[in-house]
Amino acid sequence: MIRGGRPLAGEVEMPCAKNSVLPILAAAMLARGAVRIRRVPRLRDVETSLQLLAALGCPAVQIDGDLLLAPGGPMGDTVPRPLMAAMRSSIYYLAPMLARGGRARVTLPGGCRLGARPIDLHLEGLAAMGARISADGDQLDCTAPNGLHGAEIRLRFPSVGATETLLIAAAAAAGETRICGAAREPEVCDLAGFLTACGARIEGAGTSCIRVLGGPLQGCEYTPIPDRITAQTVLCAAAACGGQVLLRRAPFAPLQPMAGILRRAGCSVRRAGQDGVVLESDGCLTAAGSISTGVYPAFATDAGPLLAAAMLTARGETRLRETIFSNRFSCAAQFARMGAKVDCDGRLLCIRGVPALQGAQVTAQDLRGGAALVIAALTAQGESRIGGVEYIRRGYEDIAGLFGALGAEISCTVQQVCSPAGAGVSA
Ligand code: UD1
Repeated sequence: MIRGGRPLAGEVEMPCAKNSVLPILAAAMLARGAVRIRRVPRLRDVETSLQLLAALGCPAVQIDGDLLLAPGGPMGDTVPRPLMAAMRSSIYYLAPMLARGGRARVTLPGGCRLGARPIDLHLEGLAAMGARISADGDQLDCTAPNGLHGAEIRLRFPSVGATETLLIAAAAAAGETRICGAAREPEVCDLAGFLTACGARIEGAGTSCIRVLGGPLQGCEYTPIPDRITAQTVLCAAAACGGQVLLRRAPFAPLQPMAGILRRAGCSVRRAGQDGVVLESDGCLTAAGSISTGVYPAFATDAGPLLAAAMLTARGETRLRETIFSNRFSCAAQFARMGAKVDCDGRLLCIRGVPALQGAQVTAQDLRGGAALVIAALTAQGESRIGGVEYIRRGYEDIAGLFGALGAEISCTVQQVCSPAGAGVSA
């Protein structure tokens, strides 16, 4: 529940990145010693990961924000269907299961309904490394009777998930792997950083060609990078509401595409100290014009709905073109309930800024679209009620606390705590 129309002011610290933590938890299964991941946010996808680790025989406990894992024991070879359906990141467990136990029985992963999300690149890469994959409907039975071996892999598209699956597989495979056409996102580098801390030899992470020399891995302590999408959520909200916010633990470089757009819209965005960012806005924005999402270092697809929400009350027209997923803007219909002038034609979202939004009852249909509804509601006059909070909890530990700390009038009651196994929340 949000009573909008107030400026935001104050400072908040960015949590560790969901998109780093999730693959790192799967990769930790390769270690032969204790692993401590520091400052892990209590996200719903992290809860799902803990259930998945438990189902595969890896004990894990969360103590004071750190996650302690004890991999190395006997490992299960089957992920229960509800855990596969609960999130896209369940697919990251395929590689460690194959590398450690030689067998993985899984179903196709779930995830936000952003359009078709195939896993062909993951499977083709694993096959090149020696995996045998048989599919029966949505069930996959994968084996690696002789273990995984190094290979030369060329990705047709720089998929973040496929690059990470293959990085995990390559770290445990015999010999050298080259992943060409790799994704260059900071979270890929972070996974490589974690594997390196475990003893893997990896060169080129952050470029489109990654070289990995596989071998045994040991345990380590690791702190994942800050969440650049959470940072962009706060930047967009403060830009549209007006005010002054300081983001601590928010490295500047990955925020540049968004910072550039918000500056052109009329905000001041600048670095503050080593790892802080300050945004100042009077809340009167000029429309962003034509913006396309793209693979890193271009403007991130996850940030599209967030920017869209900030532009609903900007003067002029914004045209957002999504190039990665076919159904990124399902939040558009909900924006319209708040009085926004939006026209969504598949991957193209046209926004004609209106002077003000009115609070309304809306429903989140995916994670970032849900966060975008929070931003819109913060700018709107009056009260909004946002349903589907379980989607938002997949990637934001406490979005009410985050914006409450900046002076927003926001409260959140999760009426039904949905387990990942629960039907109807297969986000
Ligand atoms: C990851 C992020 C997600 C982000 C996305 C793009 C995590 C947990 N999630 O998702 O927040 O929006 O990167 O930055 O890190 N594709 C294929 N075949 C494959 C794999 C992908 O065709 O085997 C296609 C997808 O359908 C999509 C595009 O590649 O059109 C991008 O997907 P990918 O980069 O893999 O995104 P995810 O890893 O799913």
